Amino acid sequence: MRIHSLQQYFEEYKKSIENPEKFWENIAENFYWRKKWDKVLEWNFDEPNIQWFINGKLNITENIFERNLADFGNQTAIIWESNHIDEPSQHISYQQLFEKVTQFANVLKNQGAKKGDRIAIYMPMVPEAVVAMLACARIGAIHSVVFGGFSAQSLSDRIIDAQANILITADGAFRGAKTISLKNIADEALEKCPSIQKCIVLERTKETIQMKNGRDIWWHEALENTAIECEATEMDSEDMLFILYTSGSTGKPKGVVHTIGGYMVYTTYSFQNVFQYNKGDIYFCTADVGWITGHSYMAYAPLLAGGTMVMYEGIPNYPHAGRFWEIIDKHKVTHFYTAPTAIRALMATGLEHVKPYQLDTLKVLGTVGEPINAEAWHWYHTHIGKGKCPIVDTWWQTETGGIMISSLAGITPTKPTFATLPLAGVQPIIVDSEGNELKGNDVEGNLCIKFPFPSMLRTTYGDHQRCKQTYFSTYKGLYFTGDGARRDEEGHYRILGRVDDVINVSGHRLGTAEVENAINENPLVNESAVVGYPHDIKGQGIYAFVVLEKDAQTQEKETMKASIISTVNKIIGAIAKPDKILLCSGLPKTRSGKIMRRILRKIAEGDVSNLGDITTLLNPEIVEEIKKEAGV
Ligand code: WT7
Repeated sequence: MRIHSLQQYFEEYKKSIENPEKFWENIAENFYWRKKWDKVLEWNFDEPNIQWFINGKLNITENIFERNLADFGNQTAIIWESNHIDEPSQHISYQQLFEKVTQFANVLKNQGAKKGDRIAIYMPMVPEAVVAMLACARIGAIHSVVFGGFSAQSLSDRIIDAQANILITADGAFRGAKTISLKNIADEALEKCPSIQKCIVLERTKETIQMKNGRDIWWHEALENTAIECEATEMDSEDMLFILYTSGSTGKPKGVVHTIGGYMVYTTYSFQNVFQYNKGDIYFCTADVGWITGHSYMAYAPLLAGGTMVMYEGIPNYPHAGRFWEIIDKHKVTHFYTAPTAIRALMATGLEHVKPYQLDTLKVLGTVGEPINAEAWHWYHTHIGKGKCPIVDTWWQTETGGIMISSLAGITPTKPTFATLPLAGVQPIIVDSEGNELKGNDVEGNLCIKFPFPSMLRTTYGDHQRCKQTYFSTYKGLYFTGDGARRDEEGHYRILGRVDDVINVSGHRLGTAEVENAINENPLVNESAVVGYPHDIKGQGIYAFVVLEKDAQTQEKETMKASIISTVNKIIGAIAKPDKILLCSGLPKTRSGKIMRRILRKIAEGDVSNLGDITTLLNPEIVEEIKKEAGV
């Protein structure tokens, strides 16, 4: 399944287009199936109905463990690095990880978990987070990981939507100099979640927490007298593996559903090809387990590929801005995968934080989550890769489950700011606003995918219509990504960013409507409009235009802004905190009452040279007021 040369890439690509079923079948043969599929693919993008490896039976954890243990049970699977520089790192072998997973799978069973149950996971970046996910997979329960930075409300919304019956969490999480009191937040969330029967709590920060009788149980206590062996539950290829909530252009995040067979095949295949990982290499992905990168290219693919990976609990700049580079030297990391926002933040701290480190074990660098600007690309290439490591700029989405467009390290060409070429098996196209395919090179438009690939989303949990509406209705017969893209003269793709009401803040996706809804929860707020604007470190920042209720308009502005920020923290979490808040007496609207975001976007960008015709607005005078307040 591994491509070794540029010529082979073109050959494989051609094969994958001419006969996708045959192409993917050959790759799927590399895995352990209890029973082979009857048919490779069935699909229809209108419904949508997408099925891969139909009637194939398997368990993904048997592919991580049983398939490989005899060969390399003693090899390290996870090297865990603490948030605290003086806490020893942990090395966990495949055999040890296997036993942790099966024993915890028995804990889940003892707590009443069954095949098909939804289990929420709200954890710090510790090996137990991966253990919890794999234990769910072992028994056929569907995990729904919620990022540890989300608020109680975000957590309860997700638990309720999935009707989860178990929550796995920890007392707290260390994040740099701070701790996050996960269990306290979870307690608040669970007040609204009657579906939760049990809450399993890992001890990490040792802070004082409340344990609710009959509901809460300590992880370490649950393990006592629990058997280690746990037979894998036989699953269908199209059974759900997990739900992961992600934001869209409408208010409520949706639960993207991935199924077992296709996800396993595609994430492993893409991992091996993009990163060109070899036995003995040490792979370090900095993504949190709460995002899709943490699922696909931390928890699943590297383990399915029999790799050794570094998992880091902390943040890039704690206790110093050289922490990533120090970890790379300490563990002899060969493959490093991070987000452009982290690169920009570290770049801004100066080279003195890079100079003390050798970084000479590195072979491949990767980026994910947002477009990387040329300056950050060159800094990464020169100062981290020492000019000798290819950079894979990997474009993909929560919905695609795996990397779609990226160079293959050292095999296909790289080009700064370009994701470059689609992986074999991926058929991207660019369309105009009517959905006509723009053929040939040197074109720009909306990025779609015209043929299914094994790891694509199957539905949005509990609301199939929404999946259809969001991804398969904009352009008939196509999966619409929500991104704009250019294909240059050489056929290389450059991702231009979202074309919908989604903003990408530090590589995290937020819907503008979602942030507005949160702001509007503040009783002092009358209405609001949120837009993205270019931000040096975060890629995009959040700019909120807020109209206060009449009696609040006379209050002190800074107090009002602080109150709005605290509401957003409470409703979504700190990641959605507006970078700028502008208080105004009204929002520019059309005569039909629609907010003119285009104008607000221009003002937020600081470019008011061409606001277009504003005389047809309901309230043109408000534009002057806002411009003045914004200082543009
Ligand atoms: C959106 C998906 C993929 C895991 C992390 C984010 C943007 C992602 C790139 C890239 C330019 C990128 C797109 C995409 N994006 N990777 N290499 N170059 N843009 O996952 O939260 O599902 O967000 O992130 O806009 O649609 P996500």
